[in-house]
Amino acid sequence: MLEKYSTFAPFYDLLSGEYPVYRAGRVVGIEALGLSAGDQVLDVGCGTGLNFPHLEQRVGAAGTIVGIDKSADMLRQARRRADKHGWTNVILLQADAATPAPEEIAARIEAQEGRLRSDAAIATYALSLIPDWPQAWKNMQTLCRDRAAQTVVDMQEPVGTAAVFTPLARFACWLGGADISAHPWSGVEQDCAEVTAASARGGHLQIRTGRTKAGTPPS
Ligand SMILES: C[S@@+](CC[C@H](N)C(=O)[O-])C[C@H]1O[C@@H](n2cnc3c(N)ncnc32)[C@H](O)[C@@H]1O
Repeated sequence: MLEKYSTFAPFYDLLSGEYPVYRAGRVVGIEALGLSAGDQVLDVGCGTGLNFPHLEQRVGAAGTIVGIDKSADMLRQARRRADKHGWTNVILLQADAATPAPEEIAARIEAQEGRLRSDAAIATYALSLIPDWPQAWKNMQTLCRDRAAQTVVDMQEPVGTAAVFTPLARFACWLGGADISAHPWSGVEQDCAEVTAASARGGHLQIRTGRTKAGTPPS
């Protein structure tokens, strides 16, 4: 699966269906985070950085975006995006988001940023690609401070009249290596407080936002 992202990294933005479909989910998800200027926000499975313009707009130059991705080629595109816009507050780490040792990621963030725990975290269309997404979700929480905002945006089969688009949605997920039945937003529903739910594109895009409970990391 990662080879796929390596090969197609330079074309990801063009091929990802961003404007007709997937942008809608990230816009709703990022708005729900309620970011403030100066926040540190973690972008798990950040890919080429399609979330970055929306995040930058909110955290500003005083804030920090920490992007984590397993693919060096996707991160290269993310760095190009940051450089093109002059965003000097973007830290990119090549790491497995589902590592059982998130303290190593934390140490790398601290080494570059001096601050260990993020104020917020988001994963857009990334957890459903990770077989052990519950571990990646647990790590997202571990890397954040207590009561940090957490958003998961991911995909399921469309519902209602939009169910006619199910073959298309399945094809898009298969193409991207995502498990359309993973439903990783259930982590937010189970573990967070103040959970809000939204959906877009006929239910294909599911957005959940909540706050980590005091005393994270979870057991
Ligand atoms: C469909 S892309 C989504 C990228 C971005 N979040 C977006 O909204 O456009 C999924 C990304 O997850 C990354 N990924 C897959 N498995 C991963 C893992 N175990 N740890 C970190 N990143 C991973 C891939 O390299 C890819 O960049």
